[in-house]
Amino acid sequence: MFGFGTTNSLTMDKPHPESLLDSAVQGSIGRPFDRIDGPSKVSGTATYAAEYPVDNLAYGFLVGARIGAGTLISIDADAVRSMPGVIDVVTDLDRFIRVAGQGGETQPPTQGVRDIAFMGEIVAIVVAESYEAARDAALRLPVTYEAGEGAYAFAAARAKSYVPPDGVTPAHFNQGDVDAAMAEAPVTIDATYVTPSQNSAAMEPHASIAVWEDDGSLTLYGAYQMPSTDASQLAKCLGLSAKKVRIVSRYIGGGFGSKLGIAPESVAAAIAAKQIGRPVKAVMARQQVFEATVRRSNTEQRVRLAATRDGKLTAIGQESLVSNQPGEDFFEPVGIGTHMIYSGENRLITHDQVPLNLVLSGSMRAPGEAVGMIGLECAMDELAERLGMDPIVLRKTNDASVDPEKGVPFSSRSLSRALDEGARRFGWARRAGPGEARDGEWLIGMGVASAVRGNMLMESSAKVELRPDGTATISSSMTDIGTGSYTILAQIASEILGLPVDRITVALGDTNDPPAAGSGGSWGAGSAGSAVYLACEMLRGKLAKAMRVEDSALTLKDGMAIGNNRSSPIGEIVGDGLEAIGHIKPGKQEKATTQASFGAHFAEVGVNRVTGEVRVRRMLGVFAAGRVLNAKTARSQCLGGMTFGIGAALTEELLHDPRNGKLVNRDLAEYHVPVNADVPQLEVHFLSERDVHANPIHAKGIGELGISGAAAAIANAIYNACKVRVRSFPVTLDKLLPGLPDL
Ligand code: MOS
Repeated sequence: MFGFGTTNSLTMDKPHPESLLDSAVQGSIGRPFDRIDGPSKVSGTATYAAEYPVDNLAYGFLVGARIGAGTLISIDADAVRSMPGVIDVVTDLDRFIRVAGQGGETQPPTQGVRDIAFMGEIVAIVVAESYEAARDAALRLPVTYEAGEGAYAFAAARAKSYVPPDGVTPAHFNQGDVDAAMAEAPVTIDATYVTPSQNSAAMEPHASIAVWEDDGSLTLYGAYQMPSTDASQLAKCLGLSAKKVRIVSRYIGGGFGSKLGIAPESVAAAIAAKQIGRPVKAVMARQQVFEATVRRSNTEQRVRLAATRDGKLTAIGQESLVSNQPGEDFFEPVGIGTHMIYSGENRLITHDQVPLNLVLSGSMRAPGEAVGMIGLECAMDELAERLGMDPIVLRKTNDASVDPEKGVPFSSRSLSRALDEGARRFGWARRAGPGEARDGEWLIGMGVASAVRGNMLMESSAKVELRPDGTATISSSMTDIGTGSYTILAQIASEILGLPVDRITVALGDTNDPPAAGSGGSWGAGSAGSAVYLACEMLRGKLAKAMRVEDSALTLKDGMAIGNNRSSPIGEIVGDGLEAIGHIKPGKQEKATTQASFGAHFAEVGVNRVTGEVRVRRMLGVFAAGRVLNAKTARSQCLGGMTFGIGAALTEELLHDPRNGKLVNRDLAEYHVPVNADVPQLEVHFLSERDVHANPIHAKGIGELGISGAAAAIANAIYNACKVRVRSFPVTLDKLLPGLPDL
């Protein structure tokens, strides 16, 4: 894969203190460039998965099971086959996938749809000459089932919980003796927090166009975050070698984890296209996105904290129950941030899985921290009150100087600095005691929470080509899910090669290009960005050689190469053109340091003491995530994360009928994500930081940092406003009303 001689490969075994992004002089890096893909998106020329012009296209509409558990008995295709425009009813009870794939998996998701594991499981696809004809027939298709026993209610199924295999974090971790520390400590908290199932609710529904080529290979235009591993999943589902599957995913209308692995429409479209001998497009209806892709698991978290009178934590316990389908390994890694954020000798962090016949649970934006920080950071607020201590002081008192479990240093960590800077900017000193601040019929409160999100580096590569006309092209299977990947990759190349950003073309999301890990886990910028960096570093070396100067004596700026008292347009010294592939992979630094981005959330809310309505009045996030590559796109990521936090705190909750698992709020009218009126002016401030252990661009993940802790800051502000502590999320007005003070 990585051609000898033209590849610059780096394994992060050592710190990388020098970065060309500091010595280069183009001035592109960090600047708030508008998205280079913006004009094509707003003018409608950017092709999303369902928008590729393909000849002879047939339209598919998916059919989801209408029982919660049991067996599929028959599909009466003849009943609809003669309807106008209908081409065929296609199914494959062995190869259709029962659930979506998990992110980064190269093995296929669970296949086979004879067994119905949840309501909405995709069992067939109706193909027609138009979307409307396919939908009409799909809705009329008679399917018979034999209903079986299913578990749909968490409360009833919890007794069947079991210890799942370890995931990105251990299922069970124990250090010291939390029980003993709780018994000895003068001040303790023992509280249980509940968070509901959620849906990523990306704007673009899952969609695939499957095109079989004459040589028996498959091209799939899809909306997928990780095309390289997705192609492997899809190939294995279809019994093809990975080389026979190409996924093209150039633009993605949001993913938030729901598009990390393949979803059922991809396999259905591919099988249908093969069967009818025409390309097939399958776009999920919104209800199918909710019912048949992936949810974030609900959680129940027992959080125990033990502290000395001066606020030193002696024990941290976070014991979680989460849920997934029987036989699925993924568990919501609730405690992943708890492992590293605060010091404290005795630690118990566990996850037990409750089997439920509901749609697959998988990764949704900041899997783990997004919900785990709700329990932990609300408990910290409760502890601060019990101690009579400022919640910021409590957090700073327990800011860990080394990883409290592994004993290794942090690669970079600015938690206390973020708390202090946030307090100053937010006016924390003006915070009143619980229930003391009023504005007419509104009770006003302020809350704080720490933010943490683990930083990951994933093996990635990218090709950069320099042309005689002084332009450059970047190509990689990296994706842009709306985060700004196109733009930051162009900025990195611009900076190092000394070319204006508008001379750089970026081609992403095609598995024919060098493989990258794609977008997930906030690793995209650091991983694909480093691959681009390494390719450009190699090209820079080649330019220096062509100029006959030492690398260190070469300056590249505004399309000119300057060195040895000579200057020349870069295009003129590249000959017929130059190319290099950059390749990064994680190494010893991953274990030698604990890597995470940190920050602090501040929220001010009003609670209406007549109606119990909560309004977020303002929020501030102060974040440190290594080098900020683009001030605008980075800020936008944090704004998005904080907005997710408002949803998690106040509105978002998937509701399942306990009799059959039917998802009753399966669209954007009934599943309430925050709308404009729910989101006040949000402020984001970045602390300057460099992380030499993370990667050569010194940047850490940012896409998920903004959500981690945000909901807790809001819940803590609600308590400060009205003295009502709600531990069951979302904090809706019915939960507040009984406790509100009399008028
Ligand atoms: Mo993220 S939940 O890894 O897209």
